[in-house]
Amino acid sequence: MSDETILVTGATGKTGRRVAQQLQDKAVLVRAASRSSQVRFDWADHATWAPALRDVTGMYLVAPDLGSSQAAENIAAFARRAAEAGVRRAVLVSFPHTGAPGLDLGHVAAAEQALGTAGLAATVLRPRWFFQNFSEDFLRDAVRSGDVRLPAGQGKEAFVDAEDIAAVAVTALTEDGHAGQSYELSGPRLMSFADAVADIAHATGHDIRYTALSAETYATEQRAHGVPEEWVQLTIGLYADVRSGSLNTLTGDVEKVLGRPPRDFTDYARTAAAQGAWTA
Ligand SMILES: NC(=O)c1ccc[n+]([C@@H]2O[C@H](COP(=O)([O-])OP(=O)(O)OC[C@H]3O[C@@H](n4cnc5c(N)ncnc54)[C@H](OP(=O)(O)O)[C@@H]3O)[C@@H](O)[C@H]2O)c1
Repeated sequence: MSDETILVTGATGKTGRRVAQQLQDKAVLVRAASRSSQVRFDWADHATWAPALRDVTGMYLVAPDLGSSQAAENIAAFARRAAEAGVRRAVLVSFPHTGAPGLDLGHVAAAEQALGTAGLAATVLRPRWFFQNFSEDFLRDAVRSGDVRLPAGQGKEAFVDAEDIAAVAVTALTEDGHAGQSYELSGPRLMSFADAVADIAHATGHDIRYTALSAETYATEQRAHGVPEEWVQLTIGLYADVRSGSLNTLTGDVEKVLGRPPRDFTDYARTAAAQGAWTA
């Protein structure tokens, strides 16, 4: 067991859960925190900050409202408190700087820079779309319905595995040489939503298709399902980024950090299907 204790925020989420698990696999002590975790941590409730930071040497930060001025302020204040409390290393999961509507890149950049400014050995991760959006989040129901209806056209994206994002985070939190670095994390292959859905259909043996919608039709359908307008507008912006090809590039950063290629979507789809990710 090492003498490090690492605070993992967003510990019930897609990356935080995996960061906590991978750290524990390396015999590193983990303080898993979120609003619903045993260690309660809420960005909006500053009284939860000090207990989360006590005796911590490193931290993994997930800020669900990154891109807002509030998140930038919270991260800057939390980074100062962490540095004062003796935290040395920090990893922040951020976004690619593509300029998606609804995301203020000035606030994103301010949040990214705040960690280093506070004196922490900071690493910023900018992952592309997670594989696990299809199996653990907002695309799961669409996959299960058999028709994934999105305004992403035939644009290509470099989807990435949350396990690989977590592995990069764990490396940056436990090894030297990553302070001041930012990593653009992509998978190994550019894929359209049609490609991804075809892989899942093949893995599950079910008839699942992708239907490219206009943004207007998508918005109408989402509203009819009672989806909040803020989420409709945010996702329209994200899908527009994919459709326009602004995310149409691969990076070598997963391999640069881990010394092995990123996991392919086909492998993820096969494993997730075998684990029942899309069964009722
Ligand atoms: N999904 C993608 O494709 C993608 C791509 C690029 C970047 N990102 C960004 O990557 C980051 C990590 O996402 P993820 O997928 O690992 O997270 P996630 O699965 O969306 O889960 C969010 C986590 O944050 C916690 N949380 C929510 N509100 C909170 C609050 N006010 N205070 C403290 N904790 C709070 C949640 O737990 P509780 O509910 O228990 O608090 C949960 O553990 C996010 O900032 C996301 O926007 C995502």
